[in-house]
Amino acid sequence: MSLTIDRLTKRYQNKIAVDQVSLSLENGVYGLLGANGAGKSTLMRMICGILNPTAGEIKWNGIDVSEEDYRDVLGYLPQDFGYYPEFTAYDFMMYMASLKGVPKNRAKEKTKELLEIVSLSNVAKKKIKTFSGGMKQRLGIAQALLNNPKILILDEPTAGLDPKERIRFRNLISKLGTDRIVLLSTHIVLDVEYIANTILMMKDGKLIHQGALDEIIKVIENKVFECVVDNKMAISLSQQHPIINIRNEGTEVFLRLVANSVPYANASLSKATLEDLYLYYFSEGN
Ligand SMILES: Nc1ncnc2c1ncn2[C@@H]1O[C@H](COP(=O)(O)OP(=O)(O)O)[C@@H](O)[C@H]1O
Ligand SMILES: [Mg+2]
Repeated sequence: MSLTIDRLTKRYQNKIAVDQVSLSLENGVYGLLGANGAGKSTLMRMICGILNPTAGEIKWNGIDVSEEDYRDVLGYLPQDFGYYPEFTAYDFMMYMASLKGVPKNRAKEKTKELLEIVSLSNVAKKKIKTFSGGMKQRLGIAQALLNNPKILILDEPTAGLDPKERIRFRNLISKLGTDRIVLLSTHIVLDVEYIANTILMMKDGKLIHQGALDEIIKVIENKVFECVVDNKMAISLSQQHPIINIRNEGTEVFLRLVANSVPYANASLSKATLEDLYLYYFSEGN
């Protein structure tokens, strides 16, 4: 089971939203990480067949997706998913199942099973308008699973989750990734750091990195430094190096930055994190 994307491109008028993205996905969790406007949703919508690519191709097990019943293997949670506030979770699932052409008896079974999986069984008969952000997102994932998809696409599924809900969400996603492809997008580094087997970093429509966390982190390994300096030196250093974090305390300035060699006498080497790499690429001017 593999999804292969070859030089996939989307152009809107004169804007290239996705620029020659090539990827090969197998079972597991993939975290698509990028700032707003990077092209994540556009890429996902093309993978789901909702948006036609300008160029490039998508193949499922070697067959072009436009040539087969590919939708049957897809589950999708859009970024701007519309929930019906007056529906109960149960009714909403049954409604989505009917839209997807799942027969009624099967839909009942599936709804019960999926609400269990996303821990919403106890509120199945409650109206969606009473749900927290996390509960709605879990319901969104449940509806995406109605057809037992081999490819699950979740666009910014962690938006609006509180810390507790985030942990619950991570556990659910890692489970789902054991026997299917899960591709989830986010602009929050922490959300992919622990759950994604593979991280895909996107910037300005291009895939700038892909690999396991420890692989992609190598880019800035032994290049992250911390130092405490005065204001003048802080300005000077920030003109020479990408700054990851800056914090003022009285007359002292705490800096975390990326440099090829020791940037300042008292600077100490720090362990690189995915957040460093992300900020390194997405901070202004980089
Ligand atoms: N329908 C559209 N028409 C024109 N430009 C679009 C359209 N949809 C998205 N864009 C542009 O394409 C770029 C990528 O958008 P999007 O895929 O939504 O990024 P992301 O999901 O990473 O925030 C942005 O610059 C956005 O403004
Ligand atoms: Mg988006």
